[in-house]
Amino acid sequence: MKNFNFQNPTKIIFGKGEIAKLSDEIPSNAKVLILYGGGSIKKNGIYEQVIKALEKHHVIEFGGIPPNPEYKVLIEALTIIKRENIDFLLAVGGGSVIDGTKFLSSAALYEGAEPWDILTSRKPTLKGMPFGTVLTLPATGSEMNSGAVITKAETQEKLGMGGPGLFPQFSILDPQVVQSIPERQIANGLADAFTHVLEQYVTYPIDAYIQDRFAEGILQSLIEVAPQVMANTNNYEAAANFMWCCTMALNGLIQKGVPTDWAIHAIGHELTALYGIDHARTLAIITESHYTYNFEAKKEKLAQLAERVFKIAKGNTDEKAKAAIKAISDFFQSIGIDTKLSDYTPNYQNTAQEIEQRFNDRGWIGIGEHGKLTPSDVKTIVEMSY
Ligand code: NZQ
Ligand code: ZN
Repeated sequence: MKNFNFQNPTKIIFGKGEIAKLSDEIPSNAKVLILYGGGSIKKNGIYEQVIKALEKHHVIEFGGIPPNPEYKVLIEALTIIKRENIDFLLAVGGGSVIDGTKFLSSAALYEGAEPWDILTSRKPTLKGMPFGTVLTLPATGSEMNSGAVITKAETQEKLGMGGPGLFPQFSILDPQVVQSIPERQIANGLADAFTHVLEQYVTYPIDAYIQDRFAEGILQSLIEVAPQVMANTNNYEAAANFMWCCTMALNGLIQKGVPTDWAIHAIGHELTALYGIDHARTLAIITESHYTYNFEAKKEKLAQLAERVFKIAKGNTDEKAKAAIKAISDFFQSIGIDTKLSDYTPNYQNTAQEIEQRFNDRGWIGIGEHGKLTPSDVKTIVEMSY
């Protein structure tokens, strides 16, 4: 096991009706900016619950943060934060609204002239404006981690940022919010959380028994809950398990002391930037070809995944590892997610070259758990996903 530090300061308030406790978590004299997305919260009652809970606070709101939070829109919010002397941010939404809020938390205290530099410089944010979240869509884990991914449509870029100053102070997780989520987004949430675990598990063995079993437990729970929550979003127990799995998949715990990969995400972000494909679906497109291309480096963990999660007892290491890759794709397809790039866009022919070029331009010359995947390897992986 590798050495590690672990500190996650986010307070989680989990359960039915807990949005009502919002006012206890925000200083009574704070000037609060409530941030939300395209309006789903106004149709499902979450907006009313938030406004009621904060009736004694001074609040202003900013709606319209799109999926894959867009830089230009966030700059409009930044102007309001500065003009109105806002000192607390509240994200009410899924990963996009929460990530957009993290960017604003950092940008509000940023002293440089161009806030986009926060993303290109890759310098961690050590201190941000305080913020909390009311999660409306289980998927990304953004509600309990310190990372964010921001899009600039103008240049078709999607870049990550983060740092110890960007953990939410609190996140309220009421599984009842799942009731109004459309099937497509439920499937996205399941696939995203599933891949988060894979990225921290399908590497190489390092004798980290508990981390492996945490990861396997989350995967098994997602597999169990997927058909339940896909069939009926009113199933509270299913929604609660789905929600907590998504948070636990990316709150930092399972990655401590173990190698992590994140190549699937790095490549997937390019597919969203280029074609607007939903984040989770980009992961389903890349996973099979990434694991097939890097089979030798990953086969021991893939075989362990086959045995412990997919209950495949027959065969040698190679056969079990291959069976695991197939089982992962079968899982994505079982929730209605296609796994080839050509399923999403007819104009995929130059994608691999374009992504290779972008990685070269950015100097991303070695990714994956060994830091050895070159832009040329990435090109082949993308070609294999056509
Ligand atoms: O915008 P509204 O109208 O609210 O509708 C949203 C949006 O259209 C809708 N929705 C959310 N909650 C709902 C609901 N509809 C009905 N009922 C509800 N309760 O769902 C749509 C998608 O929302 P979005 O926030 O974009 O989805 P998700 O949570 O999957 O977030 C995706 C973003 O997070 C990033 C992704 O790259 C992408 O930009 N990620 C963030 C990570 C992190 N910060 O740790 C890690 C992830 O790997 C990921 O990269
Ligand atoms: Zn993800």
